[in-house]
Amino acid sequence: MKIHNGIWKLSFGTPESIVPSKQRYVKSPDSEAIEKLPSHEQAPFEFNKIRFSASARGSRLEIPLAQGEDIYGFGLQLKSICHTGKKRCLRVNSDPVTDTGDSHAPAPLYFSTAGYGILVDTARYASFYCGGNKALNPEAAGESGKTSIALDESELYAGKGGVPAPMLIDIPAAQGIDIYVFSGQNMLEAVRRYVLFCGGGALPPEWGLGVWYRTCGTHTQKEVTKMAEDLRSAGIPCDVLGLEPGWQSKAYSCSLDWSKERFPEPEKMTESMIKQGYHVNLWEHVFIHPSSPIYKDLADKSGDFEVWNGLVPDLSIKDAASKFSSYHAKALLKKGISSFKLDECDNSDFITSPWSFPECSKFPSGADGEQMHSMLGLLYQEAIEDACRSQGIRSYGSVRSSHVFAAPQPYVLYSDLYEHKDFIRGLVNCGFSAMLWTPELRHAASKEDYIRRLQAMLLSPQMLLNIWSMPNPPWMQLNKELNRAGQFLPEDEQKELLKYTKEILELRMSFIPYLYSAFADYHFDGIPPFRALVMDYPDVQELRKIDYAWMAGSSLLVVPFTAGTKEITMPLPPGLWHDFHTGSRHEGSITIKSELDKVPIFVKDNSIIPFADASRFVTNGMKYKLTLRTYGKHPEAARLYADDGFSLHSGKKPEFRGTVDKDGRLSGKLDRRYEIKEIMKF
Ligand code: GAL
Repeated sequence: MKIHNGIWKLSFGTPESIVPSKQRYVKSPDSEAIEKLPSHEQAPFEFNKIRFSASARGSRLEIPLAQGEDIYGFGLQLKSICHTGKKRCLRVNSDPVTDTGDSHAPAPLYFSTAGYGILVDTARYASFYCGGNKALNPEAAGESGKTSIALDESELYAGKGGVPAPMLIDIPAAQGIDIYVFSGQNMLEAVRRYVLFCGGGALPPEWGLGVWYRTCGTHTQKEVTKMAEDLRSAGIPCDVLGLEPGWQSKAYSCSLDWSKERFPEPEKMTESMIKQGYHVNLWEHVFIHPSSPIYKDLADKSGDFEVWNGLVPDLSIKDAASKFSSYHAKALLKKGISSFKLDECDNSDFITSPWSFPECSKFPSGADGEQMHSMLGLLYQEAIEDACRSQGIRSYGSVRSSHVFAAPQPYVLYSDLYEHKDFIRGLVNCGFSAMLWTPELRHAASKEDYIRRLQAMLLSPQMLLNIWSMPNPPWMQLNKELNRAGQFLPEDEQKELLKYTKEILELRMSFIPYLYSAFADYHFDGIPPFRALVMDYPDVQELRKIDYAWMAGSSLLVVPFTAGTKEITMPLPPGLWHDFHTGSRHEGSITIKSELDKVPIFVKDNSIIPFADASRFVTNGMKYKLTLRTYGKHPEAARLYADDGFSLHSGKKPEFRGTVDKDGRLSGKLDRRYEIKEIMKF
C-alpha cells in the first residue's frame, strides 16, 4: 500500500505487537516535505516478486535484487561499508569482534544503489543475507557454476555468479512482518524519504556543535571547577563540560543524585559554569541503583533481571518513562543541566565480564530482552528528550545505542572500541540510517595519533574530547597510565600539543555556521549532514567502497588521515574539486600526501563556504562574522540557516532559511545573525 509520495507499506502474515513503529519515540512523518520531493508513482521494483513464509522459526522474506545493486546501511556499522553478498546479523552489542553486523546501534534498514531503501519493522535480531544465498530452483540448475579449479581460499569462495540472489531476511519469532519501502530517483532521495518519514533530522543547538570536554570519572567539584577555569584561561574553545560517573552518589548502577562528598554544592558549581559560557552534561546509564530516589517508583515497572544490582526500567511503559523523565526535569534540568550522556543502553556479550540483561528477560510491557535491547537506546533518548522539552531545552547529548526511527533524536553515538579507521568508517556509514556518530578522542598512542583523531572530528556531528579516564588534559600527557601517574610530557612537547589542539578546535568553531546549516537541511529536507560518497554518487563504481572519506554538508568532501598513513590515493567524485586550504584544483584521481597540520578537505566547484571568526564558545543568538570562501568561476549562492540557535521551537520556521551569494548578499533575515567580513576567492 502506498502511504506517502514514494513510500509504501507492505504487510505479510501476522506481525508482532511489539515493533519499533509502535514505540513512543516514533514521530509523525513530515508529510509536507515528503510531498515536495519529486513525485514517485511507480514502485522501485516488482513487489509481487517478494516471497514470504512463516514457520516455528519465525518469518522469512525474500526481496529481489538486480544485477549490479549494492547494499548499504544497517545502522552503525564499524567494520564494513558495502554489505552486498554478506550476512548481517543485527544483534545489539557494544563489542562487535568481527564484521558480522553486531553493533551498538544496528538497524533493520538498508539502502540500495538502485535508489530505494527498506525498513523491516522488527525489534528482533534479524539476519539479512544480502544477495549471497539462492533458494533451490531445479529449473535454473546448471545455469551457473565454476569451470576452473581454485587453489587459494579467496578465489575458492569468491562470488557465486549467475542471476543475483535476493535479499533474504530471517526474522526470529515473528509470524508476520511489515516493511516500508522508500524510493527515490537516486539513493540520497530514498534516504531523504526515510529521514522525513521519521519526522525529519535532529537540529542540535549551536552550542552542541562547539567543543565538548569530558572530565575525569573521579573528579570532584573542586577539580571540575578548576578544569573549567583552566580551559578558559588557556584560551581553549569549549562549549560543553561533561561530568562522568563520579558526580553521582552511586554509579554502576546509578543513583542519579549528586554525591555529597565529591560535589557538596552542585548548583553553585553549575551556575558558575554557566556564567563562564559552559553547558553542563551529565553521564548516566539507565540501570537504577536501590538507593536512587526513583527506585521505588520503578520497581514494579522493570525487567526481571538486574544489571549491576540495579533495575532495568521498562521505558516503553508510559508511566515508567514519565517518572523517569520528570525526575530528570526536576532534579537536574531545572537546576541548570543542559544535556546527558546515556551510557550502556546497548548490550554486552563478548567481553570478559558481560554485564547486561539476557535476551530471555521479561519486561512488564510484554517485551522480551531481545526486543528491549533493540529499543532501549531510543526509549531512553525519548524519555530524556521529554524531560528536556518539558523545560524548553533544545538539547544535544550522547548515547550508546539506537535503532530505526532515530533521525529526529538529537543524540550522537560513541563507543569504547578505539580503532581509528573503524571510528571513521562508523561516521561514513551512519548517514544511511540517519544516525549521528562521533569518532571521539580519549587518549592517544602518539602525537600523530592525537592530531589525527582530533582532525577526524572536525567535520563530524560532535567534537568530543572524552577524557573520562585521565585526570589531566591530553596535551599534558597522551598516555593514559602516565597521565594518571602525573608524569607529564616535557614542556615544549606540551606546548606543541596545545598549539595543535587550539588550531583544530578553532577551526571547528569556524565551521559552526556551515555545519548548522547542514543540520537545517537534515531537519527540514531530510539530507543527512554526513554522507558516504556513494550516497551522493551511487553510479560511480569506484566510490562505492570508499569508507574513509565523506561528504559534510552540501559542498565539502573530507579525507582525514589516520596515524601512520603517508599518502592516500583516491578517486574524486565527478567534476572539479578545490583544495579547501589552497584553492588548488583537482579532477579524477588524486594522491594526497600526509601533512600533519592539515585535514584534507575538498570543495565542490562553484561553492561558497561560510567560515566564521572562531569564538571560544557559542552564546545564544550571537552574531557571527563570516569570511565567505568562494571556489570556482561561478559560485552559486549557498544555503544558510539561522534561528536563535538554542531555543526549542515547535513546527518549522522556514523564514530563518536563506542564502548568501558570492557578493556577500544575505537573503531573508539572516543579517540578524551573520555579518560578512570578507570575501575570499579561490
Ligand atoms: C563507558 C563509556 C565511557 C565512560 C565510562 C565511564 O561505558 O563508554 O565513555 O563514560 O563508561 O565509566
